[in-house]
Amino acid sequence: MSKDTVADMGLNRTGIKTSPIDSKDIVQEAQRAPPSSPGDAQGIHRVRQQYAREADGLGHVPPPSSLKGVAKTAAGLLKGQKSTVFIDKLGERLAFERTGVRLYEGALSKLEVYGSWEGGPSRELLTKILDDELSHFALMTETLQGLGADPTAMTPSADLSAVISQGVPAAIADARTNLRQCMEALLVAELTDNASWELLIDLARGLGHDTLADRFQLALDAEAEHLSLVKGWLAAGVATEARAPLESASVPAP
Ligand SMILES: [Fe+2]
Repeated sequence: MSKDTVADMGLNRTGIKTSPIDSKDIVQEAQRAPPSSPGDAQGIHRVRQQYAREADGLGHVPPPSSLKGVAKTAAGLLKGQKSTVFIDKLGERLAFERTGVRLYEGALSKLEVYGSWEGGPSRELLTKILDDELSHFALMTETLQGLGADPTAMTPSADLSAVISQGVPAAIADARTNLRQCMEALLVAELTDNASWELLIDLARGLGHDTLADRFQLALDAEAEHLSLVKGWLAAGVATEARAPLESASVPAP
């Protein structure tokens, strides 16, 4: 692994103790000066409530894209089931798995620059996970089409999960992050992925889609393996970094 960008000691001016004289002035000024705008946290609270009441929400699940879809929706309604909830969550998984492919492509780029570490990821395993994510994306596409829905539509849950996890691709795409740091981002993605597949399987079973639930279970089995691999790679990477080589183990002067 490259020696730079890990938690080595070096130039960092973010802490207040970097400049004791200036920091004293800043503390004094902060205590003396009033807040830069009027009001308090209650004001923010009221504005948030007002905005929330006026907002339209995150959009809707589109109507079925085929006659088959219309028939399935109608049959579901007769059974007291709202199929749009299932379509919404399927759309969410589809979008997440598609992004998952991009995340592992990014990790592979970092692998070529930084190399791996003892107990770290190999090109073969990163590629295997990438292929799994791609196959899960294809499974979701096929499932949505089978239900007469449009797999290219962004559903409200897909939109929400993309917003929630937007830091993950940003961290991997950041030119300054190394492969070990990318593992932290992949861990967030895989934890969410595992929990979300569990939820989707329960939802499918509850709606009587047992064949689909069985197929989703195979995806969850693969995701559980991804999570275990990423956790192991991350732990080994942090342990490797914590073992400082003797030649660089000098303690800087205070
Ligand atoms: Fe995964």
